[in-house]
Amino acid sequence: TVQGGEAVPSARGSAARPTAKVAVIGAGAVGATLAYAVLTRGAAREVVLHDIDTAKVRAQALDLAHGIQFLPMAHVVGTDDLAACAGADVVVVTAGAKQQPGQSRIDLAGRTVGLVRTLMPRLAAIAPDAVYLMVTNPVDVVTYAALQCSGLPRAQVIGSGTVLDSSRFRLLVAQHVGVAVQNVHAYVVGEHGDTAVPLWSSATVGGVPLLDLEPLDGREPLTAARRDAIAHDVVHAAYEIIAGKGATNYAIGLAGSRVVEAIVDDEHRVMPVSTLVEDFRGIGDVCLSVPTVVSHDGAGPLLPTPMSDDELAALRRSADTLRDIARQTGP
Ligand code: LAC
Repeated sequence: TVQGGEAVPSARGSAARPTAKVAVIGAGAVGATLAYAVLTRGAAREVVLHDIDTAKVRAQALDLAHGIQFLPMAHVVGTDDLAACAGADVVVVTAGAKQQPGQSRIDLAGRTVGLVRTLMPRLAAIAPDAVYLMVTNPVDVVTYAALQCSGLPRAQVIGSGTVLDSSRFRLLVAQHVGVAVQNVHAYVVGEHGDTAVPLWSSATVGGVPLLDLEPLDGREPLTAARRDAIAHDVVHAAYEIIAGKGATNYAIGLAGSRVVEAIVDDEHRVMPVSTLVEDFRGIGDVCLSVPTVVSHDGAGPLLPTPMSDDELAALRRSADTLRDIARQTGP
């Protein structure tokens, strides 16, 4: 265990800021980047980084702790002892097999579900009140398995889902339309994977329905071909990045830290996290992403996001794919 950046008590003799504790399981590129993002956003007062590779987790924690002077005050611990997760508000699970070039996320299912089934009961006993944010792929199948084997309530076990896909979708739409990405509200729903569904029908730009928006400043119209190209680039983004640098880590680290922030700050923020869907327009018994209210309790109500008939049909196909994989990798 490596300690660094001791919490500095305020004049009142206690920590000056809310003392959220976030544990990150897996000190690889995704886990370390997510921990770094949580620290830079000041989303936690204590960050515990765990890995079975003692040398790696020690090094990652030291490297993060050495930067604490430049960040909001926090305390970073690197350890191979799961018990250090006790009392965590959020436990983020990033440990698992890496997607290899050309490999789909679903191809990882057997190995990572096995790991999760070993890990989650132990974690749930150590930190029964934490909200668990699964990031490990295939994240929807992993979230379903984690929920099942942990015995925790639905709200407490969620996945990063299509938060990242939605940010990719919003970026590509913003670039096409010529506005800031923050002014695009658009969701990708379903699987964080090959069957993901970009929702064009409910996308808006500055409050204007995207499909009603005339090109700004003589920019190109959003033709059906352009929409297909954007949808393809959203769904295939990870493959391109993995082919180029071996893995993705920055955007997923930022997306995951944003979900952590919504939980620790009790934001009630609407985010397309992966949760157990019990009856969404007839879809049930599957973990997938639809816009969900995220708060300190974890996953709250799903929003009745409008969808075209084609979008809903694609969501049903995504649910069927995920349900089949979950059953194949079930206990
Ligand atoms: C990606 C990984 C996190 O889409 O699945 O970048």
